[in-house]
Amino acid sequence: MIDIARSATQFNAKMPQQIRGLIQDRPNVHNDSPVRVPSGVSRVLRNVVPWNTDIALIEATTAPEQWSYALSYPLHEESLQGLAPDDALIIECRVRVHEGDLGIVAIGADYSSFASRERTVRANAAPVTVRVWLRDPGKASHLLFRNAASDGTATRFAILGLRAHRMPGGRNFQASWSSPESRSIPLAELGRALAWAGTTWDQPFPARPLAATSASLEIVDTADLPSVLGVAGQAQPIAANGKALADWKMEADDAPILEQLWRAVAPRRHLEFGTWEGFGATLVARVTDAEIWTLNLPEGETGADGETLYSSTDSGQFIGRLYREAGFASRVHQVLCDSRDFDTRPFEREPFDTVLIDGGHTPDVVASDTEKALRVVRKGGTCVWHDFCPDPDTLSRNLAPLGVVQAVVENFDAWRARFDRLFWIRKSWILVGLGAK
Ligand SMILES: C[S@@+](CC[C@H](N)C(=O)[O-])C[C@H]1O[C@@H](n2cnc3c(N)ncnc32)[C@H](O)[C@@H]1O
Repeated sequence: MIDIARSATQFNAKMPQQIRGLIQDRPNVHNDSPVRVPSGVSRVLRNVVPWNTDIALIEATTAPEQWSYALSYPLHEESLQGLAPDDALIIECRVRVHEGDLGIVAIGADYSSFASRERTVRANAAPVTVRVWLRDPGKASHLLFRNAASDGTATRFAILGLRAHRMPGGRNFQASWSSPESRSIPLAELGRALAWAGTTWDQPFPARPLAATSASLEIVDTADLPSVLGVAGQAQPIAANGKALADWKMEADDAPILEQLWRAVAPRRHLEFGTWEGFGATLVARVTDAEIWTLNLPEGETGADGETLYSSTDSGQFIGRLYREAGFASRVHQVLCDSRDFDTRPFEREPFDTVLIDGGHTPDVVASDTEKALRVVRKGGTCVWHDFCPDPDTLSRNLAPLGVVQAVVENFDAWRARFDRLFWIRKSWILVGLGAK
């Protein structure tokens, strides 16, 4: 388990400080949820050993409907107001979930707006500790426990402990590359941005410790992309997009950039990791004459808990639907496998001009896909990673870029050495390696 103080110090020299009295003792009970408060003897015992005991503060059962509220703990307004403007708040919740799925989230005074990411705890014999991060504590008024089970069953749980910590300087991460004049991203600082952003997810991926580095990643603005791609005068620079990077969408916001890229590079053989419905393959087929190979898991991607990540459209006949409907099926080879099992040997003899890496987004899958891409991209070829976005706010709100950026940071020296230029296109969720060696 990630040590909260250690992970916090990766991006900030200050340590979390416990705040007593912020979480009020008595929760509100919602929807007539049955609750049981332990006996006086247990309460006395808790006072002697207040943390890491398995004596419950309270036991409760939610209503069976998904998202039914069960308990909400008021947060003490004056303690919240006493926080400094750049303080974040961390609420550690030690819970045991006997049955169902428990959602834990900080909510606003309107009882519906979220003031944190919701953490879900599945039924488990052992107690677990989850951390709820509040980047903007002023928006919170209660800590809510609700039913996250989607199958119409109630969730039965016990709260064993609640602790609040102030995290000085944890609210924002001021990245040097957020200034439009910056031309590069120092890798060491990007590593700190990852540690900061990962806290909202309780550090979801195992991470390798970063060696000290003075390396940096180049930034290319969309305005300069035509000249970097050698098509200045033939291609119009893409107009600035006013949308926040955290709200970016591939189909609307990255598509014009990818289109310019593929047109300029004009691959004859293209490989894509991650087909989904075939949007990316259709784009390449439409703007180039390439023959395309695209890989996907036959039954789509599921998360650690077995839930589908891309809705029901990520399996069977939905995979590649868009390029088939657009009439490009004769130019596309659909490969259905786990990309980690993809045999690159036949393609090492006849390599690809371009590769798009957009399959699994955990750092281990991105690293495996990239290693395979580097084996099958021709000398002078191009690799593109989708969902690479170094914007701290985007990283703290979207898991896919968090995994991709982590993979790039952890493998930077080796991957950088394989290209003439490796750069992030600003603004986008795209990383490009030009001129494979
Ligand atoms: C972001 S979507 C791909 C989007 C697509 N490139 C497009 O342009 O629309 C990622 C896809 O990768 C697939 N995927 C995830 N992990 C994979 C793996 N290990 N092997 C093959 N495909 C994988 C998922 O099933 C999902 O359909």
